[in-house]
Amino acid sequence: MAREFAELTLRDQTVQLPVVVGTEGEVGIDISSLRRDSGAITLDYGFMNTGSCASSITFLDGEQGILRHRGYPIEELAEKLTFIEVAYLLVNGSIPNADEFEEWSSLLNRHSMIHEDMRRFFYYYPEHAHPMAILSAMVVSLSTFYPELSQHRPDEPEEHIDKAATRLISKLRTIAAFSYKKSVGQPFVYPRHDLRYCANFLNMMFSSPIHDYEIRPEIVKALNTLLILHADHEQNCSTATVRLVGSARVNLYAAVASGICALWGPLHGGANQMVIEMLEEIQRGGGNVRTAIERAKSKQNEFRLYGFGHRVYKSYDPRAKIIKRACDDVLKVLNTTDPLLDIAMELEAAALQDPYFVDRQLYPNVDFYSGIIYRAIGIPKEMFTVLFALGRLPGWIAQWKEAREDPKAKIQRPRQVYVGPTLRHLDASVKGGDVVSVEDSGGRVPN
Ligand code: ACO
Repeated sequence: MAREFAELTLRDQTVQLPVVVGTEGEVGIDISSLRRDSGAITLDYGFMNTGSCASSITFLDGEQGILRHRGYPIEELAEKLTFIEVAYLLVNGSIPNADEFEEWSSLLNRHSMIHEDMRRFFYYYPEHAHPMAILSAMVVSLSTFYPELSQHRPDEPEEHIDKAATRLISKLRTIAAFSYKKSVGQPFVYPRHDLRYCANFLNMMFSSPIHDYEIRPEIVKALNTLLILHADHEQNCSTATVRLVGSARVNLYAAVASGICALWGPLHGGANQMVIEMLEEIQRGGGNVRTAIERAKSKQNEFRLYGFGHRVYKSYDPRAKIIKRACDDVLKVLNTTDPLLDIAMELEAAALQDPYFVDRQLYPNVDFYSGIIYRAIGIPKEMFTVLFALGRLPGWIAQWKEAREDPKAKIQRPRQVYVGPTLRHLDASVKGGDVVSVEDSGGRVPN
């Protein structure tokens, strides 16, 4: 097939730029030779229009509300598979057969404990430490306990990578549950070999020496669904962070720990906690959603309608649709209601009719209803983003692996357009801070 080119004319000079077309027809202009051929770079705040890689993991069409992993629609994955099957799909590229599934499950079980020395770390965090800070610190600490992958070498044996991936997926669940137990001052509950991933997590969260938690299949199903819906979302802020940090060839644990920090932000995964806090505030104020809407529209403050809007989706987020249904199911199964759900629905209806949100194509995103399900299950709001991290982990691992194996991948190092002062010199009268030796300063170390 003939190669396609785009032409760019800049100051009477025309350069040809190769065009890359993806399997779903997406078009990218490869500008990597632009600076060499024209002296110019591209400028794109927030990477609104910039691709950083070619990837075969996730396809997302934000205009049509389509999300697929390895070609499979998110709706089918959420309905038919468990979270660890989807994790396998993302990390290994195919849906596991029965043998592969059993092997994957038993590996996850085998690696579910954390080193007893690591367990002690939890005791030294302040009582109200945010679990996302603990999660990130614990994940990077794993590299000190499992150093076979402490260097990200190009010739790293495949089995080391696989082991680190399963270790991380399994241990993150244990670390997440332990950080919750720490926050409520209860003894840690160890993982059980007879329980699958989500049931095990719920048991570690909610069992205690004086209380056996009843594992309900409907709740396990809801948790599986939520984790699947968060499992990957192509080059979002935290995933791009994992790839960027990974491009310096740090190990998997360090790259994922930085992804966890990025996810924590309220404009990204931290939005799920912000949504519930926003709904609680509306409830405390008497339940009037108009005030929140007007505040979100005003440019005089930083407040936004959390759980609304998305960089890529310009129609309803397909994950939000599934979550809304799951939310109704969970509340029905638990035979309970949540006044915050009523406020959320009223807020959504009002926003979707408001020209400000309509014109800017702002729809509910994955974070808008997920918190209602977490609340119904009994998960406190500080843990919501931790649950997001659990779900997103297979995506981070898959993306880190793909970048590692990509022969075109390079250390990620954006350029800039410098807009600071042009060359100037220090005035002859300026004397900088004196550099004096310790002896000259009479033994005192100068400031
Ligand atoms: N509430 C009010 N106004 C909003 C919102 C919102 N939630 N989202 C976007 N806008 C407005 C912006 O103020 C801007 O208005 P302007 O054109 O008058 O300046 C316009 O819509 C475009 O928004 P940007 O911020 O430029 O869009 P961007 O793609 O950079 O941001 C983001 C996307 C960060 C998700 C944004 O919609 C937002 O802040 N949402 C609330 C936080 C949230 O829910 N984050 C979770 C996203 S999903 C995820 O990460 C898992």
